[in-house]
Amino acid sequence: MFWKEPAGLKSLNVSAKVGITLFLIIAGIGYLLGFANILLTYSPVVQKPGMSMEDIRISFYGARGTTVLEASIDGTMKEYFQSENEYQELKLWLTNGASEADFASVQPVFESSCVMCHSSESEVAGVVTESYQSVEPLLAQDTGKSISRLVALSHTHVLATLPIIFLLALVFSFTLYNEKLKAVVIGFSFLAILFDIGSWWLAKAAAGAAPLVILGGVSLAVSFGAYVVLSLIDLLFKKKKA
Ligand code: HEC
Repeated sequence: MFWKEPAGLKSLNVSAKVGITLFLIIAGIGYLLGFANILLTYSPVVQKPGMSMEDIRISFYGARGTTVLEASIDGTMKEYFQSENEYQELKLWLTNGASEADFASVQPVFESSCVMCHSSESEVAGVVTESYQSVEPLLAQDTGKSISRLVALSHTHVLATLPIIFLLALVFSFTLYNEKLKAVVIGFSFLAILFDIGSWWLAKAAAGAAPLVILGGVSLAVSFGAYVVLSLIDLLFKKKKA
């Protein structure tokens, strides 16, 4: 892609080899950390161990049969209840129609378990649980990730993955593999960025699209893996034919 006649990574100076080897290894580790982060973020959405299609569906499309509040206390916010009793009280209030008249019965629960993060000062995640008026918007149907959150996520993700994929493509373009293989790997990796992020938007629009989020993530993982492994092989073993 970048050099008309690539000379292979093995023919580089020792200093460049050290730099590129470490770059490839650390990029690989960085990717694995990103993957671990995803597992830890999405696993608690449905309170069952591990990450499932259900976790992904609810995160993006939402638990449409329920409210934002109920989905949160049955998911990632469940761990914050001071006691099982408090959780049950809040559940009971929700089952009984979450009326303003009965709010007094659950106000202490919000006070002790939620307000340390969701007060009008800290307003973590834009959520306040101090009064009925502040809780009311959470009683709307859960429609998953908001558009503004998706825009923010997509934006940071493009800006984070694009330069790394570009650098990996640059290194890979020096290797001695067949040009067709290189074109496929490089083309695939850039499209994987689009596919990965596009899959979130599809999963937000349709419940059935949740598996695409996995496929998108896997295609990016395959790209990273291919760049790191193939470039290291070229750097360590491939000699240019005389
Ligand atoms: C230690 C701080 C902390 C406590 C305590 C806490 N939350 Fe949260 N809450 C967060 C953070 C961080 C987020 C955003 C990340 C997320 O959604 O997982 C959030 C998000 C939410 C959301 C938005 C979810 C969505 O899908 O938009 C709701 C609703 C919520 N919390 C309710 C509660 C309730 C009810 C309690 C009390 C049982 C509670 N939180 C306790 C930190 C906290």
